[in-house]
Amino acid sequence: MAVRTLKDLLAEGVSGRGVLVRSDFNVPLDGDEITDPGRILASIPTLRQLVDAGAKVIITAHLGRPKGEPDPALSLAPVAARLAQELGRNVQLAGDVVGSDALARAEGLTDGDVLLLENIRFDPRETSKDDAERRKLASALVELVGDDGAFVSDGFGVVHRKQASVYDVAQLLPSYAGDLVATEVEVLGRITTDVEHPYAVVLGGSKVSDKLAVIEALAPKVDTLVIGGGMAFTFIKAQGSAVGDSLLQADMIDTCKDLLARFGDVIHLPHDIVVADAFAADADTSIAFTADGFTDGMGLDIGPGTVERFSTVLRGAKTVFWNGPMGVFEFEKFAAGTRGVAEAIATATEAGGFSVVGGGDSAAAVRSFGLPDTAFSHISTGGGASLEYLEGKELPGLAVLETEG
Ligand code: 3PG
Repeated sequence: MAVRTLKDLLAEGVSGRGVLVRSDFNVPLDGDEITDPGRILASIPTLRQLVDAGAKVIITAHLGRPKGEPDPALSLAPVAARLAQELGRNVQLAGDVVGSDALARAEGLTDGDVLLLENIRFDPRETSKDDAERRKLASALVELVGDDGAFVSDGFGVVHRKQASVYDVAQLLPSYAGDLVATEVEVLGRITTDVEHPYAVVLGGSKVSDKLAVIEALAPKVDTLVIGGGMAFTFIKAQGSAVGDSLLQADMIDTCKDLLARFGDVIHLPHDIVVADAFAADADTSIAFTADGFTDGMGLDIGPGTVERFSTVLRGAKTVFWNGPMGVFEFEKFAAGTRGVAEAIATATEAGGFSVVGGGDSAAAVRSFGLPDTAFSHISTGGGASLEYLEGKELPGLAVLETEG
């Protein structure tokens, strides 16, 4: 099985052709302000090559999880503006997804023009479980690029979704992997098959259940599995310590006990915690040892001793995969754990290690600490997608790109 790439499409020639690109512009917003443009910046190389080659570029993307109808708060307008700035050219935003405005604008495109369709999830068919419904939306997207059109899949963050603009449309048009998707697959392939040891995986974030499959898949392969963030408290509880009002998935305690029994030799848990009296930026804090447990307050970050221990292990790693913050890094008082881990991974990278940061939150954290993207070997644009890839699952948006021979 092979996958055709953007290079193949450019070699075929795209001048004057309509090319539909699926990008992942699901960026964090504060009102109209994009707080982390990482996904937009990562999409530029593919888009620029198409524009420079004279394609009529039509981009489709989602933002958030609207309920299958237009929601002004989730319009792609801020994305269109940022995209225009980054590409240094006009980017039209259609007033609808595949309606009359999108069609009229698509028909009016000339070589090198860029049209962004409105949030694809404003159309309920995008995420429908009914194949025929999704197929209808995919056909409407095909209509926009015309008979000699092509599809470039470049939204790595959504390739784990069997959705009309990710999966179905790729069955209707000649399809190609964009540079972003190709790079992500290459990098994630490298940390699943060709791994240099010591191999450390760092998992954080709020829920054990979200990371269960990846723990099962990676624990047998790694030398160290560092666990922090909200999910650590279910493990700490499984060890028999009280965790006050910290995040807890009570129904996962037995699962954590089982994981500790099987992988206890590689799992590293926090031994101290920053405990807050409230979930607030200015909360009063104290340090608790997990062996003692605590009954009052909630843990919002790993403690200073843990930062030191985790950092020591991570600095010596030759391969690192990191997904999920160690604490509530958005509040400065609880950012030290995530910052410490990020800095230790950057040090390992500088010393020749190979590091991959996956997941929107970890990527946003890295950037909020002012660490340059170059401090890591790769910052993945995929959160759920990169986890599912590492779990060894088949990703519909990648499988559909495979062709015979
Ligand atoms: C992401 O943010 O991980 C992707 O854009 C996918 O978004 P979704 O989880 O809403 O499908």
